[in-house]
Order: sequence, then structure tokens, then C-alpha cells
Amino acid sequence: MKKVFVSVFDCKPGMKVAEDIFNEYGAIIVAEGTVLDDYMIDRIIQLGFTRIRVYDTTGDIIEASDSELFRAQYNENLNSVKSILHDISKGKEIDRIRVDHATSSMLTRINENRDIVNTISEMRAAGEYLYAHSINVAMLSMLIGKWLKYDYHKLKSLVTAGFLHDIGKIRVPPEILNKPGPLDEDEFEEVKKHCMAGYKLAETFPGMNEDILKGILQHHERQDGSGYPFGLTGDRIHETARIIAVADIYDAMTSNRLYKERVCPFDVFETIEKDYFGKLDHRTANTFLKNIASYYIGELVRLSNGNIGEIVHINPYNIARPIVKSESTYIDLATEKSLKIVEML
Ligand SMILES: [Fe+2]
Repeated sequence: MKKVFVSVFDCKPGMKVAEDIFNEYGAIIVAEGTVLDDYMIDRIIQLGFTRIRVYDTTGDIIEASDSELFRAQYNENLNSVKSILHDISKGKEIDRIRVDHATSSMLTRINENRDIVNTISEMRAAGEYLYAHSINVAMLSMLIGKWLKYDYHKLKSLVTAGFLHDIGKIRVPPEILNKPGPLDEDEFEEVKKHCMAGYKLAETFPGMNEDILKGILQHHERQDGSGYPFGLTGDRIHETARIIAVADIYDAMTSNRLYKERVCPFDVFETIEKDYFGKLDHRTANTFLKNIASYYIGELVRLSNGNIGEIVHINPYNIARPIVKSESTYIDLATEKSLKIVEML
């Protein structure tokens, strides 16, 4: 009998599981051959699975592609953020199960780097910036944590902190939060309060730990002391907050350019390397940029002289200026300063 992958949201009672399903500790929660019922389907969804393998007895089960499933899950998480923030703003208790479900489902995707990077740049609903930003920062932080070799428990706290890092924004007056133009000094002071407001809210939630709370409180602190709310420097800034800072800046920069022409990621890398030098934790920022940039090896680009080339090597000391092969010539953009990448093709 054929085995097919189906989205957990398309699972129906009566379907037969074609492969053992394990929980995060390696214990079987649903054995191969089990016939699904509503309770089991709910349980599988709650545990954060996005797809399972079932037997196709009728030949009419539609197999879901990885990217479709990824997008479906992203939308599901978007709804979770909305409902969590809505509950908090109404003074209700946080739905801890919903937070757990969203963060666990993100962690099941930890090895799908390319889907994460692509989805983040595509999924930007207008007017829903805060929701999408919460998920993007959680997933980007998760990738950084993975590249820094975090274990599962540290990753879980990191993803939760990324997911909740801006919850304090529900205490910022909406006319300031959604102001289309630049903020004046008083308005900016109001926005700055979101770190402490988020920390105080999260402190009352069950199951929060220091990694999560410090991540929320300190994500706008900068290594040189220029950040807020306390102007902390260097190692006094918690590791979780240093990671969230990188993810936060990257997501904000790529989304600012949404309605302009297609983002040139190398411009973003250059800004992070130059403008944020000394402000972001060097090891964290470098690990992130080096790994993200490696996805562009093999991509075609247009150079500022009009020539087309292929990215063949990322220079770890100058990530924004890789080596490009154009008409059998290798151009090292780190030394050829007069040239730059202007477009991804
Ligand atoms: Fe923030």
C-alpha cells in the first residue's frame, strides 16, 4: 500500500498511520498501523507536528508539498500570535498551550533553513507587521541558536523569547505604533517602554525562565551601550537578547523594503556589517550572516557595471562582498571596490 505525507490539518478519522510518530523524548505516541480518531488528530496537532505519513488506501489522498505545509503552518502560527496578543490586551491570561504549540511546531522545522529564509521574505501581510515579525524573529533566532549549537531546551527558550519579544508593544498607544512617518522624541520614549512592559507581562506568565525574560527585556540593548532600556554593554547583555537583536534588525530591514524593488540581500548584509559594527554581538552577527549568505552561492546577480555573474564564494571577513564569476573571470568584490551587486536574478 502506498504511503503518503499529509498535512495534519487534512488528517481525517479513519486514516491509517503508516509510520511510528515519536515525541521529543523519543517515545512512540502513535504507532504504525493505528487508525486515527479525532482525539489523536488533535493530540498530534497540539504536539506541533505539521505532517504525518498515512496509508493511501483509496488512491485519492493529495500529498502536500513541503513548501505548502510550511506556509500552512506559518499561517496557523500567525493566528496564534493574533489571538495571544488579543487575549493579553483584554487582560486575559496567556494561552500557554498555544504558545507551546506554536514554538514546538517551529522547532520541528529547524532543518528547513531554505524554507524559513524564503518564507520570511515572502510572508509579509500589510498591516500585520507585528504578528509576522514575531514569528520571523522566533524562526531566525532559532536558526542562529542552531548554528551556535544550542541544545533543544535552550532552543525552546530562545524561540519562545523571539516569539514574545515585542508583546510589550500592546501597551504602546496604537497611533504611535502605527504612525506612518518618523517618531518625535516623546513618541520614541513611549515606544522604548515596550521592553519593560513586555518583561512585566511575561513575568506573570507560567513557565517563563530567565532566558526568555531577559531576551524580552534586553533585545534593544547594544554592545556599545547605545541601546535601551538600561544602556547595558557587552557581556552584561544576556545571550538570548543578543541573538534576538540580530534577528530583529534583519527582519525589520528586509521588511522595510517590501514595497520597493526586490530586496538585494547583500545590501542588507552590508548595512548590518557596517552600521551595526560594535553594536551587535560580533560572534552572533557573523554566524548569522555567514550562514544566511551561503544560501546565495550559485545564484545569478547583476553587477553595477551591467555584467551578469554567479556568486561562487562568500568571504567570511566581508560577507557583503563575495567572489563573483562573470564570463570566466573571477571578481573579488572585497578588492574590486568600484563594483557591487545591484540585483539578484
Ligand atoms: Fe522590540
